[in-house]
Amino acid sequence: MATRKLLLLPGDGIGPEAMAEVKKLIGMMNADFNAGFETEEGLVGGSAYDAHGQSISDADMAKALAADATLFGAVGGPKWDGVPYEVRPEAGLLRLRKEMELFANLRPAICYPALAASSSLKPDVVEGLDILIVRELTGGVYFGEPKEIIDLGNGQKRGIDTQVYDTFEIERISGVAFELARTRSNKVCSMEKHNVMKSGVLWKEVVAQTHKAKYSDVELTHMLADAGGMQLVRWPKQFDVIVTDNLFGDMLSDVAAMLTGSLGMLPSASLGAPDAKTGTRRALYEPVHGSAPDISGKGIANPIAMIASFAMCLRYSFNMVEEADRLEKAIAAVLDDGLRTRDIMSDGATEVGTGAMGDAVLAKY
Ligand code: NAI
Ligand code: MG
Repeated sequence: MATRKLLLLPGDGIGPEAMAEVKKLIGMMNADFNAGFETEEGLVGGSAYDAHGQSISDADMAKALAADATLFGAVGGPKWDGVPYEVRPEAGLLRLRKEMELFANLRPAICYPALAASSSLKPDVVEGLDILIVRELTGGVYFGEPKEIIDLGNGQKRGIDTQVYDTFEIERISGVAFELARTRSNKVCSMEKHNVMKSGVLWKEVVAQTHKAKYSDVELTHMLADAGGMQLVRWPKQFDVIVTDNLFGDMLSDVAAMLTGSLGMLPSASLGAPDAKTGTRRALYEPVHGSAPDISGKGIANPIAMIASFAMCLRYSFNMVEEADRLEKAIAAVLDDGLRTRDIMSDGATEVGTGAMGDAVLAKY
């Protein structure tokens, strides 16, 4: 049995509460299914700052680089509002993303049948929705140079951000999208704005070339990103995998997220390039939500986003596809049974706390 090396970074606020439920699952999978997970734990965010004055230590960073996958809870909170910018809790997450070169951010939007009625859209529009947004995470307008505010000297200032994409960045992110599509419904929609942006012209061209060269079995369509936003709220089920840049992906993935209900339900994965020798990718899995200081320590946080992030880890880092399916089905079954944490509570359902929700998912696995 191969060992599977997992680094757990619970972080702050509800991060450790949600992570505790994943630890139960890991323990069960090791004991009952001989899964061979070997876990290490590290500090990140405010909890790391309190311990040693940094948002992540070099030692914990090295553990993340050496692990097969990293599970991340959440960081931040008012307690650390005054700490210096370089060591604020979020800096720990940014350092992880940068040093692990996590250029592909995967944000699934799944609408569990039991929650379709609580979506802001009509139930038939969202019921059974299962789409995946693949967002480029390390390039584009958030990082391009020049990036500055200059004083024009006439009482005016100019704010500048620069959208930059090189061929290799578009090739590798679209490659990830095509490969993921092959494991799903085999459709990719690429979104850009080639009508008004040069980087959009290149984006569309390189995605089409990558498709032709290596992935012509996958169905590829192109859509302008603004039209894509409309289509996401009009009829989201037309999509399977959406691939887009950093800025559009930031917005479109948040739109897609809200189709499905609570923040407490949404997982994510961030992947790096495959290792030349082993073929394995650096990867970090985390819920979309933050540290939720308003509910932390109360035992009411929804652990499903963290558990679903672990399911993505099984699928993408360990190729444990059956186990991932089984875990996602366990989540759906618990919701079908009417169990709800407070954030997704509805009439006639049974309210449970964090631990009871985790136990229920484990029992259905
Ligand atoms: P948040 O996601 O922590 O909370 C927003 C709202 O959703 C709150 O009312 C919270 O109680 C609720 N919520 C979030 N996750 C939940 C869960 N699992 N179960 C039940 N309810 C849940 O975002 P907010 O309040 O804007 O930020 C709080 C802190 O978290 C800040 O310090 C922020 O910087 C940090 N943050 C960290 C992120 C990360 O670690 N990746 C991402 C987003 C925010
Ligand atoms: Mg965002």
